[in-house]
Amino acid sequence: MAPSRVAIYPGSFDPLTLGHVDIIERGSALFDSIIVAVLRNVEKSPLFTVDERLEMIRDTFRERGNVEADSFSGLLVDYASSRKATTIVRGIRAISDFEYEFQMALMNRRLAPAIETVFMMPAEEYSYVSSRLVKEVASLGGNVSGLLPEDVEKRLLERVRRKPMEG
Ligand code: PNS
Repeated sequence: MAPSRVAIYPGSFDPLTLGHVDIIERGSALFDSIIVAVLRNVEKSPLFTVDERLEMIRDTFRERGNVEADSFSGLLVDYASSRKATTIVRGIRAISDFEYEFQMALMNRRLAPAIETVFMMPAEEYSYVSSRLVKEVASLGGNVSGLLPEDVEKRLLERVRRKPMEG
């Protein structure tokens, strides 16, 4: 039997958007399993804790048996190897994403030549959606419906009402 193809989809997911959901669904159809890996980054000041972000991902993909949510710290390629993943999936929305993604992909290849990075495009209706913009719009009272899973939207609105963005 061929070994199973495990992909890692890493990111901050603060919070999960429908753009992320779109990429995860496409990835789950391409690979035997896909691990959505939330970076534990002590430097950033996130809106949601890592555990909250994991819970939102798990709730959203409850019905998809081959999607797992996990967190990691340290080098992505070390985490990928520890999970026996052969592929890193990243979403590319526009050319502006490309330069940074290209650098990361080549650095990761240098560190771990056996792990391949695959870029995927989300549906075009999500090509401008980012967690950062969604948080900003929500915190300023704008409408973010249709950009996030419903439950995530509820949690975001509740959070920004209680904790307006810093700055
Ligand atoms: O969604 P993001 O915040 O753009 O994701 C960035 C992420 C998590 C993919 C990147 O910061 C990462 O892989 N961090 C782990 C540390 C690491 O491996 N750094 C070297 C990357 S070449």
